[in-house]
Amino acid sequence: VFEIEQLKKIPKVELHVHIEGTLEPDLLLKLAERNGVSLPYNDLESVREVFRFQDLQGFLNVYYSASKCLQKEQDFYDLTLAYLRKCKEENIVYTEIFFDPQTHIARGIALEEVMAGIFAARSEAEARFGVRSQVIPCFERDRPVGDSLPLLKTMERIGGIVGIGLDSAERDNPPSIFNETFAYARSIGLHCVAHAGEEGPPEYIAEALDILAVERIDHGVRAMESTALMQRLQVEQTPLTVCPFSNVALGVFEDLACHNVGKLLEAGLKVTINSDDPAYFGGYLTANIVDTWNALGLSLEQVIQVQRNAIDATFIDAAEKYRMH
Ligand code: HPA
Ligand code: ZN
Repeated sequence: VFEIEQLKKIPKVELHVHIEGTLEPDLLLKLAERNGVSLPYNDLESVREVFRFQDLQGFLNVYYSASKCLQKEQDFYDLTLAYLRKCKEENIVYTEIFFDPQTHIARGIALEEVMAGIFAARSEAEARFGVRSQVIPCFERDRPVGDSLPLLKTMERIGGIVGIGLDSAERDNPPSIFNETFAYARSIGLHCVAHAGEEGPPEYIAEALDILAVERIDHGVRAMESTALMQRLQVEQTPLTVCPFSNVALGVFEDLACHNVGKLLEAGLKVTINSDDPAYFGGYLTANIVDTWNALGLSLEQVIQVQRNAIDATFIDAAEKYRMH
């Protein structure tokens, strides 16, 4: 049986975490008050009540609504620094952080403020805690696809991002329609990832690989439904950023004992473990590993394996990766 303190000691990498999903109830309530935002819940008890989800859409409704409390550069700074402080505590030495620009722009927040807050926290955490990070904006696939390329060009002008991603409601929103935006991202040297095979079918994983040319698949757990796809992912060693707590919280698997991550590992896929939205799904990276490993009876070697996989799957240069190994 693994324990949190034991696995905290292993240096770790996280590749799938949405900064808005690290908004803990206490900071959420503090920001609501600071910015004069009224929420349908105003104490920790009722927050916990609301943080019980049926599926991805049910979660997204709460997550986007809570994001309304993030308004000023300082808010994004506080949010990001709190997550990176948590990384220090858990010995997460490097993390690639997602954020959702469209949810903030749609509320009239300047993208420059959002990014300045995140970037300032990033520099601070590197200097103070030695935790390194890079930043990846995600396009929300349930918003008009035509908004995505102009937004990408704005972010290109602001600078500082390492890649782009694709998130939000997956069902009936196939990756392929973002073709042009991802092609442009690649042409300017950005890395590409996409959420696929979380709630959506295995075909969306193949589309993300074939049409968007993504280098990692976020989630990807529904790959198991296709033998051909499993074979391809094994041969190509495409990294999957698997998020066990998220999958259980959103009903993708009934409980951790039913999760397929052990089978994905046995099939030789390049699995990594991540927290997705830790404030909403019951815990950070270390807890995800501990509880999943205990539920499935996985080994310490497999902990090391997923961490080695994560190092390989990062968007840092080869010499740096070599040092991390
Ligand atoms: N899936 C899709 N969109 C998201 C998620 C997720 O797990 N978390 C935050 N936005
Ligand atoms: Zn996610």
